[in-house]
Amino acid sequence: MKGVVLAGGAGSRLRPITFAMSKQLVPVANQPILFYGLYDLAEAGITDVAIIISPETGQEIRDAVGDGSRFGIKPEFILQQSPDGLAHALQLAMPFADGDSVLMYLGDNLVRQGVSDVVRDFEEHQPNAQILLAEVPNPSAFGVAQLDEDGHVYQLLEKPADPPTNLALVGVYLFDSSVIQALDAIEPSPRGELEITDAIQYMIDAGQRVRASMIGGWWKDTGKKEDLLHASELVLETLRTSLKGEVIDSRLRGEVQVGVGSKIVDCDLIGPVVIGSGVEIERSTIGPNTTIGDGCRITDAVIRRSILMQEVEIAHWRLRDSLVGHRASIGGSAPPAFVELTVGERSEIIG
Ligand code: G1P
Repeated sequence: MKGVVLAGGAGSRLRPITFAMSKQLVPVANQPILFYGLYDLAEAGITDVAIIISPETGQEIRDAVGDGSRFGIKPEFILQQSPDGLAHALQLAMPFADGDSVLMYLGDNLVRQGVSDVVRDFEEHQPNAQILLAEVPNPSAFGVAQLDEDGHVYQLLEKPADPPTNLALVGVYLFDSSVIQALDAIEPSPRGELEITDAIQYMIDAGQRVRASMIGGWWKDTGKKEDLLHASELVLETLRTSLKGEVIDSRLRGEVQVGVGSKIVDCDLIGPVVIGSGVEIERSTIGPNTTIGDGCRITDAVIRRSILMQEVEIAHWRLRDSLVGHRASIGGSAPPAFVELTVGERSEIIG
């Protein structure tokens, strides 16, 4: 089986963060979201992996993934010129698949249990396609499945206004080589994309075997800020304390990680908290559920349930539920209450 990882797309629901960076490289617990998926594929024994990239962020993805050796995969990068849909991206990867079955993984998804179990299930039952489903409170934001009494899927709808069930399609799909006919047959949807949902519906209508299983553990599509913060919370649940930097005159509660070369002075760290390397923090309260990227400088601030990317500077402000881009700087006179911010790369707030 080969892997196809989608790492293109505009990331419009995470702007302004994604004006300057790929949504798949936004960090969760200081690791790009995309990396979790690549590790999952390697763990399932999938080492040949096509990574679909866009002209805007493709180079950034190539640089981050490199030769793939850190994950144990061999990546091949395939450029999708314009965001023409998930089925279009898979179609571009068909020459790479070269008749093998494929696992397509959306690079902004996080799947707690990995993909080993579903790969095993696919290999055992050999359907033409296999989808994973999860119960969600907001199904109209996803592809939605309808199953008959025997658990067979008979209808898939992409982001229906009036969803018939709460069963969302998770961004992990497995196909045998017969998917190629479906990809060639479908037409663009009303949003102008070739939808993978339509390709799978085509397979169902053509009498092919489409197997659906419920996901075990949690799953998160990190396309929006709240989902990203929630995903981060879920990942941080398994954090274990590790203090590599200096922690001086500070109070720690819960699981806390402090990276190499960091210096924390007179702070309250309320875990789970991940602090990267080369970070300096003074007289501040950090956490819970907070990630501070490498090289950040924070003084006299309070930061709760937030993600700060690398080299962010914050003085005096109190942030919660915030996402702060690379090299952003927030200072000057701070509002008295907590604020919730989404701040793009290199932006400056001067009070
Ligand atoms: C895509 C699919 C949708 C699926 C979702 C999972 O939506 O079109 O069917 O449920 O991924 O993350 P997108 O997030 O690309 O709008």
